[in-house]
Amino acid sequence: LNNGLAQTPQMGWNSWNFFACNINETVLKETADALISTGLADLGYVYLNIDDCWSSKTRNSEGQLVPDPKNFPSGIKSLADYVHAKGLKLGIYSDAGAFTCEVRPGSLFHETDDAELFASWGVDYLKYDNCFNLGIKPEKRYPPMRDALNATGRTIFYSICEWGEDDPALWAGRVGNSWRTTGDINDSWASMTTIADLNDKWAAYAGPGGWNDPDMLEVGNGGMTYQEYRAHFSIWALMKAPLLVGCDVRNMTAETYEILTNREIIAVNQDSLGVQGRKVNVTGTDGCQQVWAGPLSGHRLVVALWNRCSEGATITALWETLGLESGTSVAIRDLWQHKNVTGSAVSSFSAYVDAHDCLVYIFTPLTLSQSAI
Ligand code: GLA
Repeated sequence: LNNGLAQTPQMGWNSWNFFACNINETVLKETADALISTGLADLGYVYLNIDDCWSSKTRNSEGQLVPDPKNFPSGIKSLADYVHAKGLKLGIYSDAGAFTCEVRPGSLFHETDDAELFASWGVDYLKYDNCFNLGIKPEKRYPPMRDALNATGRTIFYSICEWGEDDPALWAGRVGNSWRTTGDINDSWASMTTIADLNDKWAAYAGPGGWNDPDMLEVGNGGMTYQEYRAHFSIWALMKAPLLVGCDVRNMTAETYEILTNREIIAVNQDSLGVQGRKVNVTGTDGCQQVWAGPLSGHRLVVALWNRCSEGATITALWETLGLESGTSVAIRDLWQHKNVTGSAVSSFSAYVDAHDCLVYIFTPLTLSQSAI
């Protein structure tokens, strides 16, 4: 969407994956504090996004949405002020249907009123869900909220969440700043790998202004191993996915912190070229030894060796699968070791990868190939 936002994928935090409906203004404020104190905000995680369940179950007598008086007694404007004072941005959630998925009032046919209310509160981001949609096509239900947000005069990030049902990559580039390509993630290896593959299909449609959204991060929620979370974060970054942290950032382990704060991986995600990397080669049983790669600015490439097999394996990236001419010499930087790999490679690069782990490199071409000379 051409509203000036999302020149790189959005980064921040969202309440759903860890808290679900157990949210309140204290948790949100403490999370804002933690984004600052941990340094996550400085790394770019600036959106604090409230998901479902912030609202009362009914509109007020004027037909307006009302924050749940028990959990948000100070209201959303006060929370937005708190968050803005820290240099963060506030996101809210509604639904392009009669109700949200947790049966709070939806915004379908209330787009103008609700957009104006969100803007008056100082909201910076709207995630717009797909429950209770009355069977109306998303291509009809999502543009009215885009127009209503635009008419408020406030610049509001518009995150479309129709779960990939109507192939949003094909139409949502003109409607939103990101669009979910799949159903909900859960905190498991099976879910994460399935979603990565589904999102990969739409790589060609992502770019500055509008990104494929394979759903929020589960890193730190406990259902995957360190290696699996590292793979999850690596592949989401390479796919130019939104990096929306979904754990309790007030209580992160050292491993969770190390993953989420890897500046070199974040830089891949936020690279100015804005091209979604893809799965470029598979070998091994059921294709479990995988190479994912994509172009970065400055003629560089990001290359991930992802071992989805149940045993450790040596995985090889061949120049021909990366689109590099044979003979091209590259310098290689390891983004998890934070080290340059010694020597240079001219036709392939191999490394041993533990089961379910993912090693990520930046390749910088050093020479023209012999044939080009
Ligand atoms: C849907 C969305 C999720 C989350 C929940 C909230 O399932 O896809 O991301 O927002 O609703 O109810």
